Amino acid sequence: MNVLLLGSGGREHALAWKIAQSERLGTLYIAPGNAGTASVGTNVALKVTDFDAIADFVRSHDVQMVVVGPEDPLVRGIADYFAADATLRDVALIGPSKAGAVLEGSKDFAKAFMRRHGIPTAAYQTFDGTQVEAGCRFLETLQPPYVLKADGLCAGKGVLIVPTLSEAQRELREMLSGMFGTASSRVVIEEFLSGIECSVFVLTDGKDYKILPEAKDYKRIGEGDTGLNTGGMGSVSPVPFADAAWMERVEHDIIRPTVEGLAAEGIAYKGFIFFGLINCDGAPKVIEYNCRMGDPETETVMLRLDADILDLFEGVATGTLAARELRHDPRHAVCVMCVSGGYPQQYAKGCVMTDTDVEGSIVFHAGTARNAAGELVTSGGRVIAVSSYGASRQEALQKSMAGAAQIQYEGKYYRTDIGFDLHD
Ligand code: AMP
Ligand code: GLY
Repeated sequence: MNVLLLGSGGREHALAWKIAQSERLGTLYIAPGNAGTASVGTNVALKVTDFDAIADFVRSHDVQMVVVGPEDPLVRGIADYFAADATLRDVALIGPSKAGAVLEGSKDFAKAFMRRHGIPTAAYQTFDGTQVEAGCRFLETLQPPYVLKADGLCAGKGVLIVPTLSEAQRELREMLSGMFGTASSRVVIEEFLSGIECSVFVLTDGKDYKILPEAKDYKRIGEGDTGLNTGGMGSVSPVPFADAAWMERVEHDIIRPTVEGLAAEGIAYKGFIFFGLINCDGAPKVIEYNCRMGDPETETVMLRLDADILDLFEGVATGTLAARELRHDPRHAVCVMCVSGGYPQQYAKGCVMTDTDVEGSIVFHAGTARNAAGELVTSGGRVIAVSSYGASRQEALQKSMAGAAQIQYEGKYYRTDIGFDLHD
């Protein structure tokens, strides 16, 4: 089977690495990919949102499966585009329809969906530009800190958590007057939940689902979860509090009603569902849905996914997922992300990289490229992720940190405390 994987980050290198191990694989193409994906497949210079160009490539290269990494093409309807074209309809598209991707594309839709299906989440109300004063009054009924979320996609920047009422009211006015463009033309205000977060992933064919290994990511730039938010500085899997009893509750209260709710509402969903959960005194609640895998969670989840991923994807495409096998590798996995100096603010690109082959670890490229001279160079804020197995989380972390220390480029920075808040 020839497969086209869309995307260019560490998540996609990790997916490509796993796909490349499948016995069913013919040729793997990655569009646009990065310098790392080029080592497990063939990079193709296509934009992930240029559906016409993707369709031409699929037809001309006999591609039988398209795996969508990032949310953007899904929210823009790539699955519907394929379904509507007689020459593409038989291509297995791993990713939900536009109607399904709205779970990520609209926070208001996701909250209303959870309300309809009794799925535990923070209490909320949504306000638009005509309801600024009502929104300000709603904020007065809540306890600090205040959580404000732009309804639409904001590349991870649409959530504000502010400590005081006056600040929250000021931010609400700014958001509703276009701070994030049309993405914040509606704002969800919700109750603040405290607890430790955990990312749970399922693959679904629209009827049945399989639960992948869970993970936890570390979003802040600084040690001890301090400083600015980033795309993710590392991840661990498994997560100790996500034990069998907790996962049973997650499945019963959250996963099953979500998959059944989508089906009951006639929403076509064949792909990953990412449940961003928070553990509130033992009770799991949904912080957010995403319609794709997480990054950098994928960089540990793929290490622990004991299955032929193309077999699972085939099950998704043909509605036979229930019959496929998936096990969780019992080992621990830890990913440490090396980023560019200055990230998540201003940073340099094009820094030459050396010593990137790390013995005993798996190195996933996130923002790398080749320069005109063929040298490996940095090309993004998040540059390269070192993932390792260990008999314990500590052992896996030590290996990944040794790898992160070995890799060389100007301005390299990484956190040394990934997993610090977890206790077995
Ligand atoms: P989101 O983009 O919805 O994942 O939100 C970004 C981050 O904000 C989450 O990962 C949480 O750390 C935090 N967050 C979002 N909603 C809440 C909430 N209701 N209570 C506490 N923290 C939240
Ligand atoms: N790691 C969080 C995300 O991918 O959105």
